[in-house]
Amino acid sequence: MRSLYCGELNESHLDQEVTVCGWVHRRRDHGGVIFVDLRDHRGLVQVVFDPDTPEIFSTAERIRNEFVLQVTGRVRNRPEGTINEDLPTGHVEILGLELNVLNAAETPPFQLDDDVQDELRLRYRYIDLRRPEMQEKLRLRARITRTLRNWLDDRGFVDIETPILTRSTPEGARDYLVPSRTHAGEFFALPQSPQLFKQLLMMGGMDRYYQIARCFRDEDLRADRQPEFTQLDIETAFLDEDSIMTMMESMVRELFDGVLGVQLPDPFPRMRYAEAMERFGTDRPDLRIPLELVDLGDVMKTVEFKVFAGPANDPRGRIAALRVPGGGGISRKDIDDYTKYVGKYGARGLAYIKVNELAAGRDGLQSPILKFLPDAVVEAIVSRTGVEDGDLVFFGADRASVVNESLGALRVRLGHDRGLIEGDWKPVWVVDFPMFERDEKNNRWMALHHPFTAPNIDAAAALEENPGTSLSRAYDMVINGTELGGGSIRIHRTDIQQAVFRLLGIGEQEARDKFGFLLDALNFGCPPHGGIAFGLDRLVMLMTGATSIREVMAFPKTQTAACPLTDAPSTVATGQLIELGIHLRKPPEVED
Ligand code: AMO
Ligand code: AMP
Repeated sequence: MRSLYCGELNESHLDQEVTVCGWVHRRRDHGGVIFVDLRDHRGLVQVVFDPDTPEIFSTAERIRNEFVLQVTGRVRNRPEGTINEDLPTGHVEILGLELNVLNAAETPPFQLDDDVQDELRLRYRYIDLRRPEMQEKLRLRARITRTLRNWLDDRGFVDIETPILTRSTPEGARDYLVPSRTHAGEFFALPQSPQLFKQLLMMGGMDRYYQIARCFRDEDLRADRQPEFTQLDIETAFLDEDSIMTMMESMVRELFDGVLGVQLPDPFPRMRYAEAMERFGTDRPDLRIPLELVDLGDVMKTVEFKVFAGPANDPRGRIAALRVPGGGGISRKDIDDYTKYVGKYGARGLAYIKVNELAAGRDGLQSPILKFLPDAVVEAIVSRTGVEDGDLVFFGADRASVVNESLGALRVRLGHDRGLIEGDWKPVWVVDFPMFERDEKNNRWMALHHPFTAPNIDAAAALEENPGTSLSRAYDMVINGTELGGGSIRIHRTDIQQAVFRLLGIGEQEARDKFGFLLDALNFGCPPHGGIAFGLDRLVMLMTGATSIREVMAFPKTQTAACPLTDAPSTVATGQLIELGIHLRKPPEVED
């Protein structure tokens, strides 16, 4: 239907007759001459219709934005003074000789250049996708997956599909369930990840597996979380964590080099989980931000100020300071805003000290809490944080988890607000995770990764004696504060797997019922194995500079996990429910 793409036209086509197809981006009527910017995925070209050909001209008068046209015409130079240097095709135009309206369009709900609400963009996603930014992102996404596939194929990884209708895999989120018609009253769960299947593939002797796998998790959504998302899922046999990390970071390095021309460090730095929490309050530190948390709990034990003394004397408490270089100029109003911001993470306040002049001692400091702090404490704050004149120090004092989350988030916010971001790309491996974390509310241990992650001790008894201090053989790849991927060496022995289930409060019968197939497989010749899964959407988000993974998915869901385009989820016919043996009742009152 066409001889070339709109965006391809240039002076080499002068005087040629060409045929292009595309959408009307804009139509301008310049008293007697009609200009149409015609758009395809390669760009825009200007088409001119003049009244010399009355029949075509009258058709051109009727066309509107987003009509789909086929135009044949002669390429000519734009007249002096009308050249558009911003447009790759800006030196030429097509004089329209034939015009075929392939499809008329109603007035679109928004113009492509408009700034529109997400809901509307998703409802008319097929219009939204015509925007050049969306085109670029989805095309780059395809290039990224192709590059990754080639890299893995070249190294003996086998692309294997795993079931979507399956049993629940415990990755920590709620399951999406699918009722079975043939087994009334029973349900499939959509996979939260292919975790157990990829392990079974290693037991099946496949040696190296990968899959671009769809995962489903019914959890609270954020900018980097969708209910249905894609992992680059990988598993290998007979490799230890060092080999896996080395291999995976070279894949990511080559990807960044090949697609973006960016050189990532070789090797990626590694950081222990405990160090990441201490210095950055999070296990996914954004290392581009040169701000760090500093502990002060030990010097606060005897201060009068209850806000500090309480957490200082609580083994689960933490008191940390965050120095903001040059922050002395932060206004009262901004401090109030930051206080509100940390409040979202549970902080009950945000104490601060402004440093006007260190040489003046206490008189050179300014803070509502200064009067509560003895000289020795003030000295410790000054020396540990390394403050200088003109700085400000924020304080968090609470349960360690609250301080970590609130100051960790404040650190990132300050980094952006104050233009402190250093460098473009800062990857890091986070390692030496605890095996378990304590769920105080329910008084039980939870797996920090998933229950199939191997502990770094080889004895079930030792593990059961020290669940709180045991570390796992897990690793997370973090880039610029985004957790891009996570994986581990897996348990390949029944006794250890059973010990972990016991610690997690999964009884013998429940373990049999839910994971009997895995426990059996561990007994029939299981190689040591391990792997990783990357959030493909997050990877593409980072590499395209998008701020949400919705921007790099063709048909994402809204914040409430719905699809405004197809109006899913939806009610179904009573007949379908009867067939599935499902009787709806009013949803139960939600408990807190
Ligand atoms: P994990 O649960 O850490 O590990 O997931 C791996 C990676 O998937 C991405 N991710 C998400 N992306 C978008 N939306 C979500 N809701 C979402 N949840 C997770 C993250 C994350 O790092 N089976 C293990 C992997 C393994 O052990 O090999 C797993 O799924 O980028
Ligand atoms: P108050 O004594 O509650 O008026 O608090 C005095 C100062 O301490 C204020 O600047 C509060 O924002 C701050 N503050 C109160 N609670 C905390 C907390 N848990 N962590 C850090 N600062 C706090």
